[in-house]
Amino acid sequence: MTTRIKKFPFLILIGQLLLLLPRHRNSAYAAGGGRWDLLMSNIGISSMHMQLLNNDRVVMYDRTDFGASNISLPNGKCRNNTNDLTLKVDCTAHSVEYDVSTNSVRPLMVQTDVWCSSGSATSDGTLVQTGGFNDGENVVRVLKPCNGNKSTCDWKEIEGALIQSRWYATNHVLPDGRQIIIGGREAFNYEFYPKTLSTNNIFNLTFLQQTNDLREENNLYPFVFLNVDGNLFIFANNRAILFDYTRDIIVKTYPQIPGGDPRNYPSTGSAVLLPLKNLEAQIIQAEVLVCGGTKNGSFLRAQRGNFLGALNTCGRITITDPNPQWIMETMPLARIMGDMVILPNGNVLIINGATAGTAGWELGRNPVLSPVIYRPDNPVNSRFDVQNSSTIPRMYHSTTVLLRDGRVLVSGSNPHGLYNFTGVLYPTELSLEAFSPSYLDSESVNLRPRVVSPSSRRKVKYGGQVNIRFIIPGPINRNLVKVTMVAPGFNTHSFTMNQRILELSSGNVTQVGTSTFKINSIFPNSSKLAPPGYYMLFVVHQDIPSEGIWIRI
Ligand SMILES: *[C@@H]1O[C@H](CO)[C@@H](O)[C@H](O)[C@H]1NC(C)=O
Ligand SMILES: *[C@@H]1O[C@H](CO)[C@@H](O)[C@H](O)[C@H]1NC(C)=O
Ligand SMILES: *[C@@H]1O[C@H](CO)[C@@H](O)[C@H](O)[C@H]1NC(C)=O
Ligand SMILES: *[C@@H]1O[C@H](CO)[C@@H](O)[C@H](O)[C@H]1NC(C)=O
Ligand SMILES: *[C@@H]1O[C@H](CO)[C@@H](O)[C@H](O)[C@H]1NC(C)=O
Ligand SMILES: *[C@@H]1O[C@H](CO)[C@@H](O)[C@H](O)[C@H]1NC(C)=O
Ligand SMILES: *[C@@H]1O[C@H](CO)[C@@H](O)[C@H](O)[C@H]1NC(C)=O
Ligand SMILES: *[C@@H]1O[C@H](CO)[C@@H](O)[C@H](O)[C@H]1NC(C)=O
Ligand SMILES: *[C@@H]1O[C@H](CO)[C@@H](O)[C@H](O)[C@H]1NC(C)=O
Repeated sequence: MTTRIKKFPFLILIGQLLLLLPRHRNSAYAAGGGRWDLLMSNIGISSMHMQLLNNDRVVMYDRTDFGASNISLPNGKCRNNTNDLTLKVDCTAHSVEYDVSTNSVRPLMVQTDVWCSSGSATSDGTLVQTGGFNDGENVVRVLKPCNGNKSTCDWKEIEGALIQSRWYATNHVLPDGRQIIIGGREAFNYEFYPKTLSTNNIFNLTFLQQTNDLREENNLYPFVFLNVDGNLFIFANNRAILFDYTRDIIVKTYPQIPGGDPRNYPSTGSAVLLPLKNLEAQIIQAEVLVCGGTKNGSFLRAQRGNFLGALNTCGRITITDPNPQWIMETMPLARIMGDMVILPNGNVLIINGATAGTAGWELGRNPVLSPVIYRPDNPVNSRFDVQNSSTIPRMYHSTTVLLRDGRVLVSGSNPHGLYNFTGVLYPTELSLEAFSPSYLDSESVNLRPRVVSPSSRRKVKYGGQVNIRFIIPGPINRNLVKVTMVAPGFNTHSFTMNQRILELSSGNVTQVGTSTFKINSIFPNSSKLAPPGYYMLFVVHQDIPSEGIWIRI
């Protein structure tokens, strides 16, 4: 721990010196761990929304009224949409499917405007995406994953499927497999998809009105997490509630986050539900971590050319406590528009974003090129670790998701109303990068587990037990083996909806062959802990995760 702290100012200095060197896009350089690789210099669109599906393909899209993108629709198809505000006949794609195994993209056809929409993968692995702008604000779009190189699956659109127009809303999968869609601009209510007879309506949520700052909003894309008791934790602006959507009542009001600064769009911070553990205990704890954002008033000032510094604080709170209190921590780097990605070992990667200004067109300044790792189980003051830097600013409208192989995909960044590559501070980014946390370093190869069984795509039951067999080539430390399951989230605007990690209750590790071991793990016994759907299952040894396997609960 002490060496890490001592090393830190020195590494920052190295980082700054290296920034002065000529930049080679696909050469990553030293700073503090982890590695950057440029996967594709041009995926054709500027990814503003991202979701990993259970076929290891990542669906991405930007907005349909960005004008021509840089990838054509297949087979000479054109989008002919008289509602489009920029280009009524557009023969380019605004959505693509990235195939991890071939490192290539396939154009997809989306008709109505998906700009600043929201979504989530449902229990059968289908991506359901809701709302957007203009002709897209009430539309639901679904994409069923398909395999094969000649795959032709594409978006299907359901007009008028939302009762309320939703732009900048947040979705979450519920224990019964439906999803709830909360808020959005001028939408102080929630609704469900699909709807049942009793939920064929919208439901007011005055909390969203109360947290809406008149001139800045500061409460869009609220941070929503399913608590272990089945209620929803909803954070907007600078405070949070625990909400029982089944009875339409607030069951708990949390204290305001210390300092009172806003954390939601356009004062965009980010948040995660920390790993859920001890799932067999009578009382299961849940903690939320909110990081970054900016001061109230930054958005209006940025519009006048005054770019205030971002916040360098995180607030951590045990949301299941009878008397919950925020505990504040200081990040090594201030950040607005940062993304928080839960890694398979339970650590949190804070990545992308800027150190000044706000979200919104042209309003961010000074990119933060170095990600930071937060280790929630370390003692306070030794949790943050600055990582090696990228060379590509990832400002407003950038995206990131965790892949099954443990890498973190990074793309997008377009703070302009159209694609703009010249004469601007932060040109529209069409590139795709991967950040490989240091657990993927070749030095760890002997420690890294490889899952032998169950086979991929295995169905598991709530409360079910499964023997997991794995190989560890080098010496094993049996006390440092754990099994985690991670839900693939929907990422946009620095928040990943449905992002969730659970550490399974497991028995002792036993050896069953040369370098082969077995651990008996119990899946969570309730869909309140883990809503139904596909998860990536990882065996983690000494903080080094295996490649994940897909399971379906
Ligand atoms: C990243 O940082 C580590 C630790 O400082 C360094 O040893 C390594 O060479 C860097 N990796 C790359 C690819 O630059
Ligand atoms: C993509 O950009 C390149 C370079 O500017 C250009 O040559 C190419 O025609 C563009 N493709 C499409 C489909 O817009
Ligand atoms: C687009 O649709 C309009 C109205 O249906 C039609 O008049 C026009 O020919 C179409 N254009 C193209 C390029 O398909
Ligand atoms: C699938 O297509 C990609 C890109 O065109 C190609 O690189 C890859 O080899 C193909 N894979 C198979 C299995 O045909
Ligand atoms: C919900 O809010 C709207 C707008 O403020 C209001 O018109 C409506 O009466 C409210 N509905 C209920 C059931 O309270
Ligand atoms: C799940 O496990 C908890 C803790 O052991 C227990 O209290 C609860 O009754 C179990 N629920 C079900 C549905 O089995
Ligand atoms: C932000 O500032 C506005 C205008 O000064 C004020 O009305 C609002 O209450 C402030 N919001 C918070 C969360 O303090
Ligand atoms: C890009 O932005 C610059 C600076 O605002 C502007 O002069 C230029 O016209 C823009 N280009 C495009 C293609 O919109
Ligand atoms: C696991 O190992 C511990 C310590 O070696 C032992 O006390 C315990 O009984 C074992 N548990 C099971 C279920 O075998």
